[in-house]
Amino acid sequence: MSEKAILEVDGKRYEFPILRGTENEIAIDIKTLRGATNGIITFDPGFKNTGSCKSAITFLDGEKGILRYRGYSIESLAKESNFLEVTYLVIFGELPTVEQFKKFENDIKEQSLLNEEMKNIIDGFPKVAHPMGMLSSLTSALTAFNPATVDVTSENNMYDAVVKLLGKFPVLAAWAHSKNKGTPLNYADNSLDYISNIMQMLFKVPTSQYKINPTAVKALDQLLILHVDHEQNCSTSTVRIVGSSEAGLFASIAAGVSALWGRLHGGANQAVIEMLDEIQNDGGDVEKYILKAKDKSDSFRLMGFGHRVYKNFDPRARIIKKAADALLAELHVSDPALEIAKHLEEVALKDDYFVQRKLYPNVDFYSGIIYKALGIPSEMFTVMFAIGRLPGWIAQWKEMRLGGEPIGRPRQLYIGHTERDFKNINERA
Ligand code: CMC
Repeated sequence: MSEKAILEVDGKRYEFPILRGTENEIAIDIKTLRGATNGIITFDPGFKNTGSCKSAITFLDGEKGILRYRGYSIESLAKESNFLEVTYLVIFGELPTVEQFKKFENDIKEQSLLNEEMKNIIDGFPKVAHPMGMLSSLTSALTAFNPATVDVTSENNMYDAVVKLLGKFPVLAAWAHSKNKGTPLNYADNSLDYISNIMQMLFKVPTSQYKINPTAVKALDQLLILHVDHEQNCSTSTVRIVGSSEAGLFASIAAGVSALWGRLHGGANQAVIEMLDEIQNDGGDVEKYILKAKDKSDSFRLMGFGHRVYKNFDPRARIIKKAADALLAELHVSDPALEIAKHLEEVALKDDYFVQRKLYPNVDFYSGIIYKALGIPSEMFTVMFAIGRLPGWIAQWKEMRLGGEPIGRPRQLYIGHTERDFKNINERA
């Protein structure tokens, strides 16, 4: 294949180099396009065809349904690794040795105490505040307590910022949950592993002992591994673009949390469970909702279905579906939502509308069933996704800053008025 792409505009030919990734992905390098053509730009709303960066973190083949972090398949990591190890892998590029892991885990634990003044901020929220809004604000507030900029070129400085965020973020998430419930704010328990600690911070109340359930911990650990990174999705691109202005790490992550909140992105996990409950309360008529999803005059979409990149099964959904089945059996829980979800999937995958558009269940379709079985309420689902995605955001921010990427600043096709004369208010019709 030629290593050049030719563009012809108004009889003039322009050549652009072809770039290849390590998995043979091909990109036309149009960096010089605007300069060479005297102002022509590309037009790609939603960036459906635009590569915004080079990245060595996550490989995703949407046609084949492949997902790998740093070369390791999501299936093997979900089966054999743990969340903190995968966190280390995506941020630092390699799986940790025993010593590196121990140090990493301890350093994170040492950072799990929040400044007590953070409680004043929590106090200011109404009890009904959505925990994602609180999480974004609280993450942003971390900048007030950590005003020094992170020097990405200093390994120590960057490492300190990483362990600080990983230590404090789950505490913020748990405090947002406690605010909603009206229960006391729990502190981290440094005798516990990362995931058990999240569970106790979410659920412990001072009046009784909290017993860690290893089955629940294992299920959450695996689920969070599956959420760690997903290359240039909406929230990750947000983190990179905010960071490209040289805004700090915490401010960039806070922006990522807000981007994740939307129901077309991470917020879909909450939307899915609400949809499944709605279908159940409406008599369980799955076909009726499939018809609604296909009806272009109805704004209803089958939440947890479809993906910008996957045009095949989302490999995460396959693992989560199995895990949901296993967890419910192990916990002796029966949830009609799982049956409705499976029925919806079965009907949709045979339906021409979904087949033609290559719409398959995505990561959010079955994850809520696991969260629900763990006792996590639906408004906290996207917060759990954020805890899982934090390592990916950090890794991508670090990569972007180390790569010296220019500030993110797209162009536009202006379709407003051409120049017109100002009219005094009395002369306007
Ligand atoms: N239900 C019904 N129709 C759908 C759905 C759906 N869930 N998803 C896509 N379509 C249709 C869409 O109407 C369009 O049809 P047509 O070609 O006739 O206009 C076609 O499929 C292509 O969809 P699109 O909206 O142009 O695709 P996109 O890449 O812009 O959007 C998406 C991807 C994930 C936003 C979309 O599939 C969607 O809204 N899904 C439901 C929300 C959801 O589950 N989001 C979680 C995504 S995965 C995790 C994450 O990102 O956090």
